[in-house]
Amino acid sequence: MFSALFIEKGEAGQSVSLAHRDEAQLPEGNVTLEVEYSTLNYKDALAITGKSPIVRKFPMIPGIDLAGVVTESSHADWSPGDRAVLNGWGVGESHWGGLGQRARLDGDWLVPLPEVFTSRQAMAIGTAGYTAALCVNALLAHGLTPDQGEVLVTGATGGVGSVAVALLAASGFTVAAATGKTTEVDYLQGLGAATVVDRAELAEKGKALQKERWAGVVDAAGSHTLANACAQTRYGGAVAACGLAQGMDFGGTVAPFILRGVTLFGIDSVMAPKARRAEAWARLAADLEPEVLESITQEVALPEAIDAAHRLMDGAVRGRIVVDVNR
Ligand SMILES: NC(=O)c1ccc[n+]([C@@H]2O[C@H](COP(=O)([O-])OP(=O)(O)OC[C@H]3O[C@@H](n4cnc5c(N)ncnc54)[C@H](OP(=O)(O)O)[C@@H]3O)[C@@H](O)[C@H]2O)c1
Repeated sequence: MFSALFIEKGEAGQSVSLAHRDEAQLPEGNVTLEVEYSTLNYKDALAITGKSPIVRKFPMIPGIDLAGVVTESSHADWSPGDRAVLNGWGVGESHWGGLGQRARLDGDWLVPLPEVFTSRQAMAIGTAGYTAALCVNALLAHGLTPDQGEVLVTGATGGVGSVAVALLAASGFTVAAATGKTTEVDYLQGLGAATVVDRAELAEKGKALQKERWAGVVDAAGSHTLANACAQTRYGGAVAACGLAQGMDFGGTVAPFILRGVTLFGIDSVMAPKARRAEAWARLAADLEPEVLESITQEVALPEAIDAAHRLMDGAVRGRIVVDVNR
């Protein structure tokens, strides 16, 4: 038997609780793992609170991320005892996910746990941190260099934002961190932000073209924030858009793209190809200091993840939450 969070759907709507199942009930897959740690991302919070239709099959074990040890495998790349990390691929949405003590899935979805990280550290990074690395890699591949000017990170105290600030600072960029938590200036400066911007300055509909300020942007907010960020990006600069914390809408104009040659990169972590995942994890392994990672991380036990998901949805969480699924 193993324990997991289960989201069920009944006539009265969705409910979530800790429950126990036999391993024989795990879904199809060629690799079985003992999960050591999982985490809570924005998407997990949406799934657990039922605020968005993330879950496509019921009952579902949520958790789009997991790190653990392979116990059984018929996949050529994986043997019992290997440590692996899973991010995305629809796990926790349409395939039982990481917020439980066991998982069975397709070995093609797994990446080796980087040697420099423990399972807990890999989950402190999670999809949020790996997406931040995808964003930073997109900007660097565009040719962004520190001498070109300031880089803006929105949703800066969130999971994606915290890791993006730390990675950009580690690469020598001057980082401006936009946040609604203006009491967290010390936290953001500790991660390497040079300036802190009140996110209210970016939150309302603005002009099509605004004063050129940013050489690059990592945006976790979407909506007017993304439109304003594009309108404030310097000639030839780039914006990596990965989130919708403010909203799914994008009320901008094409002016920044056709008059300033600004590039808008769309960043998806769920179906990202293996090579791009490996590059993202390599950047995290090289540039994310363990002390910085610890400073953004808090831990909860499996049953506590339900309350924590509500706090995350309320925007009350700073940084990342790891979940010890065996506690
Ligand atoms: N594309 C992908 O594959 C992918 C992968 C991971 C995450 N995401 C998306 O990226 C976003 C961030 O994820 P996360 O895990 O970092 O979530 P998170 O930890 O909850 O952080 C989101 C942050 O956004 C900021 N925020 C909240 N409401 C806002 C608003 N109305 N306007 C502007 N900013 C607001 C807050 O930071 P401040 O208080 O500092 O402003 C909040 O902490 C989410 O929308 C998530 O769905 C996408």
